[in-house]
Amino acid sequence: MKSLKAGVIGHPISHSKSPIIHQYWLQQHELEGSYKTIDIAPENLESGIQNLVSEGYDGFNITIPHKENILTLCDELSPAAKIIGAVNTVKIKNKKLIGHNTDYFGFIENIKMSIANYNFKDKNIFILGAGGATRAIIYGLLQEKFSKIYISNRTQGRAENLKEMAPEKIEVIEWSGKENNLSNINLLINTTSLGMVNHPELEINISNLPDNATVTDIVYTPLLTDLLKQAKINNNQIVTGIGMLLHQARPAFELWTRIMPDASPELEKLVLGEISV
Ligand SMILES: NC(=O)c1ccc[n+]([C@@H]2O[C@H](COP(=O)([O-])OP(=O)(O)OC[C@H]3O[C@@H](n4cnc5c(N)ncnc54)[C@H](OP(=O)(O)O)[C@@H]3O)[C@@H](O)[C@H]2O)c1
Repeated sequence: MKSLKAGVIGHPISHSKSPIIHQYWLQQHELEGSYKTIDIAPENLESGIQNLVSEGYDGFNITIPHKENILTLCDELSPAAKIIGAVNTVKIKNKKLIGHNTDYFGFIENIKMSIANYNFKDKNIFILGAGGATRAIIYGLLQEKFSKIYISNRTQGRAENLKEMAPEKIEVIEWSGKENNLSNINLLINTTSLGMVNHPELEINISNLPDNATVTDIVYTPLLTDLLKQAKINNNQIVTGIGMLLHQARPAFELWTRIMPDASPELEKLVLGEISV
């Protein structure tokens, strides 16, 4: 393969962990190339992307605030990107932009890789939140054979909008009533930004959740959110959010290089700043 030219676009973007991940894989697989952060303000999205095409980029990742706005700028969309309504990875082929979404894979793979033999079959799932990440997570869950999804969001209309993804399998629960609907839940997922550093805490009492339920948070700063701490005390199995970030990057790297890399414990430590290379 010729040298890879890739990056991540967003605004702001300097905080992004994606360069650490992709540069690690380039080195691990002895590939030449670069992966950079590229700051593009919303009003410059179209011209910013055209510059990347002209500069010979092979592709790029997309983060806040461009994931939805880039849809109409793509020449082709993968089925997942179309249904999710957001693109987090673009492959540039013959100057054409092909939009993909790998967030759903990241979420599902994180659970499966964190808990041996995890099976979504017959599971009742409770999702807190209905923001941008939630649609990708529901898409991922729909590829599995779960029983039912309950969604609760502060702005109930956003949760209602997600119902159309599987009207007979999704039920909306009022935000104020979320704690009273946990007794039959097998998997509790926080997709809100609550609990993240510099954000308010997610205030929820999960004592009604069965002991054998799994709790996962897609927030990964801090790694152990208050929700996950509470779940640990209650003896629930927990899955932290960092794996979603690592696993969503794997198919992106594969799209550009044809190599599906691993999300190794060493890479996780590197991204968390626990080790350096
Ligand atoms: N691990 C990963 O790879 C990964 C991937 C994607 C995202 N994330 C993280 O997931 C979080 C959500 O991302 P997103 O893109 O979905 O964000 P988003 O579209 O902005 O959605 C934010 C969600 O949080 C809720 N929320 C925010 N402030 C709240 C408050 N004070 N009280 C109650 N609910 C509140 C929002 O509810 P309303 O609808 O009522 O505003 C909405 O459901 C972020 O922290 C992000 O960093 C992690």
